[in-house]
Amino acid sequence: MTSYRPPEGRPTSPHLPFGDRRDAPWYGQSIISVRQFQPADLDYVFGVAHEMREMVGRVGTFDLLKGKLLANLFYEPSTRTASSFMAAMQRLGGTVIPINEVRYSSVSKGESLPDTIRTLECYADCIVLRHPQMGAAAEAAAVARKPIINAGDGVGEHPTQALLDLFTIAIELGRYSPRTGLDLSGLTITLLGDLKYGRTVHSLSRLLAPMDVRLNFVSPPTLRMPEHLMTELATGTARTTELDALDPVLADSDVLYVTRVQKERFEDVALYESLKHAFVIDRQTLTRARDTMIVMHPFPRVGEIAYDVDPDPRAAYFRQMENGMYVRMALLAMVLGKA
Ligand code: CP
Repeated sequence: MTSYRPPEGRPTSPHLPFGDRRDAPWYGQSIISVRQFQPADLDYVFGVAHEMREMVGRVGTFDLLKGKLLANLFYEPSTRTASSFMAAMQRLGGTVIPINEVRYSSVSKGESLPDTIRTLECYADCIVLRHPQMGAAAEAAAVARKPIINAGDGVGEHPTQALLDLFTIAIELGRYSPRTGLDLSGLTITLLGDLKYGRTVHSLSRLLAPMDVRLNFVSPPTLRMPEHLMTELATGTARTTELDALDPVLADSDVLYVTRVQKERFEDVALYESLKHAFVIDRQTLTRARDTMIVMHPFPRVGEIAYDVDPDPRAAYFRQMENGMYVRMALLAMVLGKA
């Protein structure tokens, strides 16, 4: 998939209701790939997310997006992404059309993705789309007049997850403040599990590639990072290593980012069964890690992090989920011209 750019000359939005700021960065833009985000953009997103976190802490909900409507269009199951986008919109005073089960929509009668998108944008100001096919979000954005936000396109990308992951790393390790910006220099980030099909690790490693960090990719040999992605990452400044064991890099890791083996991407169920518990992180594993290391996971987990890890303060995955709402509040405000 090539990097997404909005078609030249296409109006990003047909009108400017309710005092939208057309000069706001990201106004009317679709968010399809992390490749759209330069380092200065990350500071901007995190600055807005930081403000959102403070506002939610202070007042809970507020009317920044009052009068705005989001369509949540999910062709694949989701708990966190769907509900955090809904919560984000509602915290900002907006409303949501939830289509979390497309089989109850006209998709089940054979309606195409472009027709579904062009229908929903008649009613909504922005569409969040999850789809099993890589490239589907770019396809939707190519026909849409309203912003499309990619909530996961098959084994392609999950850009909003990667942004919330990076925000979490920065906040947890004290590497971001609105005054100094983002600086992850010198960190060692170990990504573990299903690196072949895991779209969250694809997006996150792309965001980290231009930084001064070490990236360890630990997986069973059959679930290594795709070759094209490793070639792409090699053009960045991050130092990368591929391994099939965690122990050689665990003690030096600042972040352990664990992923689920993605059953739904396997044609061979026996192969999935043989790999699903290739790595299991438990309390014992953490005895060999730094006291300051954080454990992250995009969730859902299906056995790769034992429940006995949850009470450990290094378990950051539930705080990571909460950060998802703040980052998605920021992104919605940005594309709807209110940030
Ligand atoms: N992290 C994530 O995408 O979770 P959901 O599949 O529940 O949205």
